[in-house]
Amino acid sequence: MANVVVVGAQWGDEGKGKIVDWLSERADVICRFQGGHNAGHTLVIDGKVYKLHALPSGVVRGGKLSVIGNGVVLDPWHLLTEIETITAQGVEITPETLMIAENTPLILPFHGELDRAREEAASKGTKIGTTGRGIGPCYEDKVGRRAIRVADLADAATLEARVDRALQHHDPLRRGLGIEPIDRDALIAQLQEIAPRILQYAAPVWKVLNEKRKAGRRILFEGAQGALLDIDFGTYPFVTSSNVIAGQAATGVGIGPGAIDYVLGIVKAYTTRVGEGPFPTELHDEDGQRLGERGHEFGTTTGRKRRCGWFDAALVRQTCATSGVNGISLTKLDVLDGFDTLKICVGYELDGARLDYLPTATDAQARCVPIYEEMEGWAESTEGARSWADLPANAIKYVRRVEELIECPVALLSTSPERDDTILVTDPFAD
Ligand code: IMP
Repeated sequence: MANVVVVGAQWGDEGKGKIVDWLSERADVICRFQGGHNAGHTLVIDGKVYKLHALPSGVVRGGKLSVIGNGVVLDPWHLLTEIETITAQGVEITPETLMIAENTPLILPFHGELDRAREEAASKGTKIGTTGRGIGPCYEDKVGRRAIRVADLADAATLEARVDRALQHHDPLRRGLGIEPIDRDALIAQLQEIAPRILQYAAPVWKVLNEKRKAGRRILFEGAQGALLDIDFGTYPFVTSSNVIAGQAATGVGIGPGAIDYVLGIVKAYTTRVGEGPFPTELHDEDGQRLGERGHEFGTTTGRKRRCGWFDAALVRQTCATSGVNGISLTKLDVLDGFDTLKICVGYELDGARLDYLPTATDAQARCVPIYEEMEGWAESTEGARSWADLPANAIKYVRRVEELIECPVALLSTSPERDDTILVTDPFAD
């Protein structure tokens, strides 16, 4: 297949980093198409650890083009710092290896301030638990047609006009929240200072990608977050502010939907969530604690402890449908080693009725009681398994049951953070 989209099929943190790295070795172009530096991807290559938030994973591999698409919201100061850090680790980043879409909206300091001030002001039950990075407020400005985009940095008069327009909206909002007004001239000066360093990477990404596609280059679309955090199909309003599902890969860079040949969903063998919102299979007992400890479930971006629970097949079936997932990569199976019994949620009970999907209304989501199927666990270690023969019979049964319930086959099975500890069933890039 020429072009592959990777999407998280739960609430993020499914272990995309390892798989994206593995696939990016086979790809010519690696694109981010949504989200911003709320994401956190850790890559381990030849023993070196790279922590990426805004940059596509392809940057750490030589000879690849990495692309930040228009579907992303970009904090230019964060990006420059991330580039400096990665460069200090010996990775060369040049306008030949990194391109940023000219129509990408910029996250400005007041977006982060607004994000955090709103969270602080929110009462219990209305907090989203955002990463505080200004992601939501920047997307709001994009849709409100007052965002400052990469291309606006090229012309002083346009930049000033755009800043004035944004301030017309933001200053009254800030007054309401008790935050001082924005220093217009200082903001313009700050933007002008970084403009040349950002503009050197600016490009008509839609054009470059369509040319790459015509030339038969392999494109990898690297999703961030997870489909249950999607602004339309996630557990709204406890979601991120972008479309996360696979369809966004096309609009987030400017390539037709027909360019997507394969969608790989990344699925963790259990469930986690950071931030607020409904989570039907969440565990508040020893089992939940054990999943968190064995799985090292702490956020890469915020360091927050992740909420943990049993695998929810009803939810993953749903996200596989909304993203048109062709195959999944099942990760962290080894975290389940040693449990006597494992539970899989197969649907919900709501007001006496049985549902095979999560309803849309927030209060109904919160009242859904999971219906579990129990499976026998396994005592043996699956860590590092590289073939089906290395897996205990009950682990194979668990994987097969997951496939049946989510109605999607396993393409890859990951059994440790090491890239070679993977069982390959289908190579998403294979023809
Ligand atoms: P925001 O994206 O910072 O606006 O946060 C909105 C919600 O998405 C919060 O619940 C965050 O914890 C969650 N979130 C954002 N990015 C990630 C991620 O990369 N992994 C997991 N959760 C995330």
